[in-house]
Amino acid sequence: MEITAVAHPNIALVKYWGKADVRRNLPAVGSISVTLDRLTTTTTVRFDADLDRDELVLDGQPATPERTARVSRCLDLFRHRAPDLPAAMVESTNSFPTAAGLASSASGFAALVTAVNGALKSPLGVGELAEIARRCSGSSPRSLFGGFVELAPEDGTTTVRPILDRRDWPLEVVIAVTSRAAKKIGSTDGMELSRTTSPFYDAWVERSPGDLATARTAIEARDFAALGAVAEASCLAMHAVAMAARPGLVYWNGTTVECLHRVRELRGDGLPVFFTIDAGPQIKAICEPGSSDPVASALADIPGVAEIVRCGLGDGARIVAP
Ligand code: DP6
Repeated sequence: MEITAVAHPNIALVKYWGKADVRRNLPAVGSISVTLDRLTTTTTVRFDADLDRDELVLDGQPATPERTARVSRCLDLFRHRAPDLPAAMVESTNSFPTAAGLASSASGFAALVTAVNGALKSPLGVGELAEIARRCSGSSPRSLFGGFVELAPEDGTTTVRPILDRRDWPLEVVIAVTSRAAKKIGSTDGMELSRTTSPFYDAWVERSPGDLATARTAIEARDFAALGAVAEASCLAMHAVAMAARPGLVYWNGTTVECLHRVRELRGDGLPVFFTIDAGPQIKAICEPGSSDPVASALADIPGVAEIVRCGLGDGARIVAP
């Protein structure tokens, strides 16, 4: 039995940073994201009774033991529900750099759980699938859906739901890649360090429900200026929490900062654009429909920008074969 699924990365506009329960990977805050098109993770899962243990091939290479173990733990969550699932060969390919702040774990686990679910005799409903995805990576349930998506904490678990279809507000995203190197401290460790050592962490958690409500209202009203204001605030607050950890985490490089200022200048000149940055040095400029051309060329001109990737909003994870 071999099943292939595709998922896209998502970019949080209101950030998830910090866990209420590390063991169950329960986020301390909700989050709101947009799912991208164009960038993809394609994952094929083959269950094979002849294999001794789960194996992972990532971007054509045998994966590290750590990555393989993380995938195996995700498969085990399905085995709790379907104990006769044999070992699996998982082959996953990203069309973008892995672990460099382009949300490869979100699309990776969304594609994985979608493929595995497709192989089950009785597939799980989306709520249970999202719960498994969340345990593997807190941002990944958002990639199960397309367009604008909210992940909300709820009585010791989370719910995930689409807020608005991508066709109803087809924002454009310009990603300025400022480094292709994998980051030194991933999100999981970075947010734990922030929770345990940053003096700003509690204030961050306290502010989150207000930011989520503001962003939700802005999306429902397609109010670009209001969405941009809360998204930039959430991004900068998340990075401020991380920078104040001990030792402080600085995910940006100099080019990231140049790009941030350029986006604000462009906005000052009248262009509808705002930025967001995840746990890596890439900057994502979110633009109103039809206005990303000048943003892409302005960011491309900044020394240190290695590549510009342009996306629209995409669909949720789905099975593509058989
Ligand atoms: C900065 O989902 O990668 O991208 O749950 O530990 O796997 P784990 O973390 P992950 O964290 C994403 C953090 C972020 C913000 C966001 O996507 O909301």
